[in-house]
Amino acid sequence: MTKIDLTKAAYIFDGLTDKNLPDDVVAIINSLLITENLYLSATREITTKLETLNDEFKHAKDRNPIHQIKARVKTPTSIINKLSRLGFDLSVESARENLTDTAGVRVICSYIDDIYLIADLLTSQDDIKVIRRSDYIKNPKPNGYRSLHLIVTVPVFLSESTELVKIEVQIRTIAMDFWASLEHDLSYKLIEGKTDNLTRELKECADIISNIDLRMQSLYNVTIPPKSSDKK
Ligand code: GTP
Ligand code: MG
Repeated sequence: MTKIDLTKAAYIFDGLTDKNLPDDVVAIINSLLITENLYLSATREITTKLETLNDEFKHAKDRNPIHQIKARVKTPTSIINKLSRLGFDLSVESARENLTDTAGVRVICSYIDDIYLIADLLTSQDDIKVIRRSDYIKNPKPNGYRSLHLIVTVPVFLSESTELVKIEVQIRTIAMDFWASLEHDLSYKLIEGKTDNLTRELKECADIISNIDLRMQSLYNVTIPPKSSDKK
């Protein structure tokens, strides 16, 4: 298989398309589109599985454990940046081998217990294989970041082959997502200009939010109806 030069491909993807493209460049674009389609399909597979679980709960227990699902596939430029940062080859093959977050699905849950429920239900499905599980809720990052991360493979069935595609699933509460989104804005990957005060303030906010999540979980626990009243 010819190695695909992602730098060339990203250049073209970023809108600098030439009308008379040389054959090798057209081949690169095609391979990239096929790969992108594979990752998009993987996000759809995972999203469908999550929606199915959520709908089942809605009928059986009259509530949704999932508040929102977001999916994205990294852009070629972002893939290149990450490969370069990590010192890997700039090719589609290298991206498939070395990156685990080209496809990503973020699952926002209402309560902390829902995170583990959804993670267990998803990872116990026959066609899902867990490659890595990082529990940043039990072990938050030093900056206060909390989330459950799963790297899994999901099969994507094509006309002539079945591809096992790696995908990152981040599962967190609404509160954790609120913090992570704003922290990302304010400081994530910002090396210069990150003052001690900003770091301290963000960590304190993360801890306050975490405490609120625990209180909300306790409130929910006292409102759960007895098991026998669950709808069949
Ligand atoms: P990346 O190279 O950033 O993808 O990190 P990694 O491959 O070492 O994995 P890790 O589990 O640390 O982080 C994966 C993803 O989780 C990131 O791309 C972010 O989306 C999210 N994440 C991790 N740490 C933080 C954080 O401190 N703040 C925020 N806002 N998001 C984070
Ligand atoms: Mg990432």
